[in-house]
Amino acid sequence: MDRIKKISVFGLGKLGLCIAACFADKNYKVTGVDIDKDKIDAINRGESPVQETALAQLIKKCKNNLTATNDYRKAVKNSDITFVVVATPSEADGAFSNKQLEEVLKQIAISLKDKRAYHLVAITSTVMPGTTEHVAKFILEDLSGKICGKDFGLAYNPEFIALGTVIHDFLNPDFVLIGETNKKDGDILRDLYKKIYENTPKIARMSTINAEIAKISLNCYITTKITFANSLAAICEQMPGANAEVITKVIGLDSRIGSKYFKPGLGYGGPCFPRDNVAFAAFARKVGQRAKLAEMVDEVNRDQALRIVVRIKELTKDIKKPRNKIKIGILGLSYKPNTPIIEDSQAVDITEYLVNEGYRIRVYDPMAMDYARGIFGDEVEYTKNVNDCLKGTDIGVIATSWDEFKDLSFEGINKNFIILDCGKVLKENQRINIKYLGTGY
Ligand SMILES: NC(=O)c1ccc[n+]([C@@H]2O[C@H](COP(=O)([O-])OP(=O)(O)OC[C@H]3O[C@@H](n4cnc5c(N)ncnc54)[C@H](O)[C@@H]3O)[C@@H](O)[C@H]2O)c1
Repeated sequence: MDRIKKISVFGLGKLGLCIAACFADKNYKVTGVDIDKDKIDAINRGESPVQETALAQLIKKCKNNLTATNDYRKAVKNSDITFVVVATPSEADGAFSNKQLEEVLKQIAISLKDKRAYHLVAITSTVMPGTTEHVAKFILEDLSGKICGKDFGLAYNPEFIALGTVIHDFLNPDFVLIGETNKKDGDILRDLYKKIYENTPKIARMSTINAEIAKISLNCYITTKITFANSLAAICEQMPGANAEVITKVIGLDSRIGSKYFKPGLGYGGPCFPRDNVAFAAFARKVGQRAKLAEMVDEVNRDQALRIVVRIKELTKDIKKPRNKIKIGILGLSYKPNTPIIEDSQAVDITEYLVNEGYRIRVYDPMAMDYARGIFGDEVEYTKNVNDCLKGTDIGVIATSWDEFKDLSFEGINKNFIILDCGKVLKENQRINIKYLGTGY
């Protein structure tokens, strides 16, 4: 049944705006809602206020199908389904805050009051387990005076995208997770997605509580895998002849393990992985359990930047200069390539530690320099490109695996220059004439 023609997306941030643009590009009429006037104006001009791969082009292309507003009522009225994609920042105990979500749900509920047609509310924001059934349903029914499943629908429908590839991941998911409060809502979402996906993913349908737990468990499991590889790296780095890269590669051949996200390197970072892990532990505490593994993974991950710094300090022991004359070039500051985001970035942590140790630090990142200035002020030297960053340095650290670092050549570099390649970016033929070090050995 072709139920959905018009879509609204509440929260036009890193994820919400990409979702809105993808639907608009697939010929749905999309109304985006946000409280940020600058974002609304930019989108209505056909520009992207969010930096994400291919998003600017997509918004320009689907300009006629996408409008942005701060008018919740108009957006609900003019759509058949609302995706809620507002931020759910972490609270002090690690749990996700419902503040923005509750505000939006209240507005949707008020708007539903005078809407006759069935309207589906799909929560895409990452939430604490129990939120859809016990918070969202309560607010929507209480303030609209309507009944969930009869007058309006409610589902939990999270995304598993990665920043930098949000549009590709949204349109080509490994699987789709639908937590439904009733079968009709799951059917509506399934039918909608079948029309827009560029692949044929499995669709997993279940209760909202199972979907909510599945969402945070997934990231928690991936971070455990990453951390296992890094623990192995820390051990192998102390054992002459051992190489964690070789070991993870062979272990990954076992289909029970797999090779994805399983190699030595830096710890995980960014706005999702670290906080999902901590939220999982907070959820466990709330139900009277300890998620000791999740807690330990978080603790071990926090040690990873220090592991790299200790290594650098070892390397600088042989340099016959005082600390403040030893120059270190940091290539990459964002928590991963193709994004300017430096939130919980291991590269930033490493830089901060090295500054505190008294080294002279030069930094370069293709996208994150403005954000970096906000953190480091005049404590580091900002450079214009890779060559500029490494000029006159004793050590270079490739901390984020940006594509442009793959072409590094070391012409005119300091004699005895050492490069620490944390993401295994450089090929064999680039490693001649310098001292090359990777992670895990
Ligand atoms: N970014 C990711 O990689 C990612 C991945 C998976 C899940 N998520 C989840 O998606 C949700 C959104 O994440 P994000 O990174 O897009 O956040 P974001 O901070 O980039 O965007 C949130 C947007 O919501 C808007 N907003 C705040 N209050 C509002 C209100 N009352 N009405 C309308 N708009 C409002 C903000 O102005 C902002 O534009 C979070 O729960 C996050 O955990 C994000």
